[in-house]
Amino acid sequence: MTPTREEREAKLQGMGCKRKRVEDVRFTQGRGQYVDDLKLPGMLFGDFVRSTYAHARIKKIDASAALALPGVKAVLTAADLKPLNLHYMPTLAGDVQAVLADEKVLFQGQEVAFVIAEDRYVAADAAELVEVEYEELPPLVDPFQAMAEDAPLLREDIKDKTEGAHGPRKHYNHIFDWQIGDKTGTDAAFQGADVTIKEMLSYHRTHPSPLETCQCVASMDKIRGELTLWGTFQAPHVIRTVASMLAGIPEHKVHVIAPDIGGGFGNKVGAYPGYICSVVASIVLGVPVKWVEDRMENLSTTSFARDYHMTTELAATKDGKITAMRVHVLADHGAFDACADPSKWPAGFMNICTGSYDIPVAHLAVDGVYTNKAPGGVAYRCSFRVTEAVYAIERAIEILAQKLGMDSAELRMKNFIKAEQFPYQSALGWEYDSGDYHTAMRKALDTVGYDALRAEQTAKRDAFRRGETREIMGIGISFFTEIVGAGPTRNCDILGIGMFDSAEIRIHPTGGVIARMGTKSQGQGHETTYAQIIATELGIPADDIMIEEGNTDTAPYGLGTYGSRSTPVAGAATAVAARKIKAKAQMIAAHMLEVHHDDVEFDIDGFRVKGLPEKRKSMKEIVWAAYNQPPPNMEPGLEAVSYYDPPNMTYPFGAYLCVMDIDVDTGVYKVRRFYALDDCGTRINPMIIEGQVHGGLTEAFAVAMGQEIRYDEQGNVMGASFMDFFLPTAVETPVWETDHTVTPSPHHPIGAKGVGESPHVGGVPCFSNAVNDAFAFLGSTHIQMPHDHWRIWKAARALGA
Ligand code: CDP
Repeated sequence: MTPTREEREAKLQGMGCKRKRVEDVRFTQGRGQYVDDLKLPGMLFGDFVRSTYAHARIKKIDASAALALPGVKAVLTAADLKPLNLHYMPTLAGDVQAVLADEKVLFQGQEVAFVIAEDRYVAADAAELVEVEYEELPPLVDPFQAMAEDAPLLREDIKDKTEGAHGPRKHYNHIFDWQIGDKTGTDAAFQGADVTIKEMLSYHRTHPSPLETCQCVASMDKIRGELTLWGTFQAPHVIRTVASMLAGIPEHKVHVIAPDIGGGFGNKVGAYPGYICSVVASIVLGVPVKWVEDRMENLSTTSFARDYHMTTELAATKDGKITAMRVHVLADHGAFDACADPSKWPAGFMNICTGSYDIPVAHLAVDGVYTNKAPGGVAYRCSFRVTEAVYAIERAIEILAQKLGMDSAELRMKNFIKAEQFPYQSALGWEYDSGDYHTAMRKALDTVGYDALRAEQTAKRDAFRRGETREIMGIGISFFTEIVGAGPTRNCDILGIGMFDSAEIRIHPTGGVIARMGTKSQGQGHETTYAQIIATELGIPADDIMIEEGNTDTAPYGLGTYGSRSTPVAGAATAVAARKIKAKAQMIAAHMLEVHHDDVEFDIDGFRVKGLPEKRKSMKEIVWAAYNQPPPNMEPGLEAVSYYDPPNMTYPFGAYLCVMDIDVDTGVYKVRRFYALDDCGTRINPMIIEGQVHGGLTEAFAVAMGQEIRYDEQGNVMGASFMDFFLPTAVETPVWETDHTVTPSPHHPIGAKGVGESPHVGGVPCFSNAVNDAFAFLGSTHIQMPHDHWRIWKAARALGA
């Protein structure tokens, strides 16, 4: 029997289908191939000697006892790297970072020496034997003290530089001052405002803590003059370019391979001293060298996230129309500015902080400062600094609603950008591509029964006041607008390379397809979903399409996977490359059907003659013909590549609502309900989207409710192990309800926007708003995150509850 159209469509498992994740076959059977699975003949192991102090001068390093330990091959220090000019490396933010501490240490855990030994245990034992003599210096931990007149000088290497990568520096511990918006107009709007609010909203330092830590294997083949570097790289091509520039090896002789990766969340974007030291060690010793971080090293020394202290102000009319926004951020960057942001954006996309609201005028100023903390500043499951931006506006909206005595959902509705205003030009410079915020918000409020929840809350508050209960109830709302898909290349680059992305699709004679991508999955399911895009575009079953990522020798150059850019950029490249192939396939089909190519049309899994549907050729037949009897003057074969430079970013959005019950005597909370509505435009795989939302919400819950990298006054890292760093298990994690609307991106070839980080971006303010909403009736305007039981209990006590 001839299959129906529905059956033919279903066979493709294309876009919109809940295709099962193909990569899970190996992941769930323990058959993934990770960096640490790599075992090469003669391979040595490296381990770091790390600073015990946050700020100290290195008086002496004595490695003799370590070198005497059987199995130890070498100990590298800054003195060894200096002649190679490798003791400092460039950061993505235009600063330099010490590869091995040069005369001074600037944060606890800083890399001081690299021990190379025959096995990992010997390397670790030898690292203990390296004696480092320090002279303690006063640590600078509080970013608010960084620019004080008598603040300790941290960066002696740049103390006389008055110009940084982003303009003038105001102080020896200052990095940059970034301002955007209309300052005069904003100040004037505040002066004439009926109502204003101002609050210091701190977004604490946290860490992405992926399941697999950062690691690499470097192997220098001295005969061929070629370096192969396997590693946990979210952006393998960029690592290749950096490795080539630093090591002075031509880029075509550097082979970077990112095998399976166990989570990245931004942690694996940048270059770390471990990579450089492994490469140097392999060059010096002529054998492969492996470096694998342990958990404490990962948490305390590789890129942190957030650490933004945001003085946030809103001005409004009496009836709740927001007239202006003003934000000043003090950004704590740690000892080196190693933020992973596009070059021209020192504070990432923080200027998305006007959020989902039509705010006529705004001004944002960001000061970056150095402190004695680990460097970094990565987008932990968010586009560059969008979590901070959304947190600022979504907390500020709640505080304004409180001051106006207005319901915060109503305040949001009153100020939303309207559907007919898109494309919308924001006061701080973005062009939002599309959105329908009112529809999403109404759907969310109706689904959760918002009015009934507020009535229940009022009754509970009355009961609390009467002393009948010690439990209070919080309703957290957040409505976020994301900005994902960096490029375009005209304003986004990394180390001068424009942020495009790429796909190369090659169809073999019998219909099998291999597609190679410039991105690199760390668990997001790319092998499943890119194949779905190609399946729909080309009418070839997804099961016949193999997706390959992570090998820079075979994949076209791409800027990698972070900031939910894979779907907006490489997903678009996939569709564009497929369409190039489709155009050729159409010519071949027309030739086979002996009609003009304008007279054939695509039909699910082949081409048919317009008006004569029985005259058709399947894609399988067309593909064979491409290798067997292409039309005269046409090259054989079917393949195409696309380097896609997006015209704009995409702007996913969502409406989240959390209901939380809090026991004021213990600080223990219970998330009664969490509803998440996401709009990521065209949905490629609803099941994967749901998985992404579950993961992102779980990380949002972790960050809002406990996850923190804290430092004591001496600069000791608190929270450098899972004893202290909150990683929720299934026991603590709430149940998630997911929902969606669909507002396609008008400029993306398939209308898709990114989704991976949306739940994190929207989730954190939602939890924080729930906690804050619970306490608002006691007169509190803002309680700082993270909201762990102890801090909630302390807040309750402080409010006299
Ligand atoms: O860059 P990253 O892969 O982290 O984020 P993403 O582009 O948001 O994609 C995450 C996963 O969700 C991928 O497997 C996408 O194909 C999938 N996705 C989808 O099915 N539909 C969308 N509209 C967006 C993403």
